[in-house]
Amino acid sequence: MPELQRLRADHAQAILAFELANRAYFATFISDRGDDYFDRFTDRHDALLTEQDAGAGAYYVLVAEDGEVLGRFNLIFTGNATAEVGYRVAQHVAGRGVATATVRELCRLAATRHGLRTLRAATAHRNVASQRVLTKAGFVPVGPADPDHLGGKPGSWYQRDLATDRAGTVTT
Ligand SMILES: CC(C)(COP(=O)(O)OP(=O)(O)OC[C@H]1O[C@@H](n2cnc3c(N)ncnc32)[C@H](O)[C@@H]1OP(=O)(O)O)[C@@H](O)C(=O)NCCC(=O)NCCS
Repeated sequence: MPELQRLRADHAQAILAFELANRAYFATFISDRGDDYFDRFTDRHDALLTEQDAGAGAYYVLVAEDGEVLGRFNLIFTGNATAEVGYRVAQHVAGRGVATATVRELCRLAATRHGLRTLRAATAHRNVASQRVLTKAGFVPVGPADPDHLGGKPGSWYQRDLATDRAGTVTT
């Protein structure tokens, strides 16, 4: 079973392989990261770990049993028990519910491990797959997103309010 793991230094090579293998695929949904990201990947990975250690966010990778990275799922803390969600999933496992199941798991972790009460995600109108993922994971559209947030494309903010019962189960 793939495992959702907190970002570590030793994930670097598998994440770079994932980003390279899926670069063209991701660019059909969202803005490309640009050559500089790949040229300076190690610096960027180190910076993410530093941000995570400083409490700016919680960054997760979905790792297969053989160590291959199948997806990335990030929480960027924005204050007031709220985080912005971001995610990407490998092309070769697309359409199997991997993103949906893992965003649901991320919602559970957000509430139980990180004490968050609200998750938000901005997605472009043309990114129908991402809208489906968010809707299936319990998010609802709450208003327009600034195109600057979406590589110049029009889109919407989606939001999910989190609540847990005493057993730590996310109930809404
Ligand atoms: C969006 C993304 C995470 C989806 O990952 P996934 O594991 O394939 O998603 P799931 O299988 O859980 O669900 C995908 C849903 O989108 C639908 N879908 C996929 N491609 C689609 C398309 N081009 N048009 C319409 N619907 C599409 C699927 O049918 C499915 O919906 P369904 O269950 O109602 O049939 C993946 O495509 C990705 O990484 N894209 C690039 C990064 C990105 O867009 N991130 C989100 C930024 S807001």
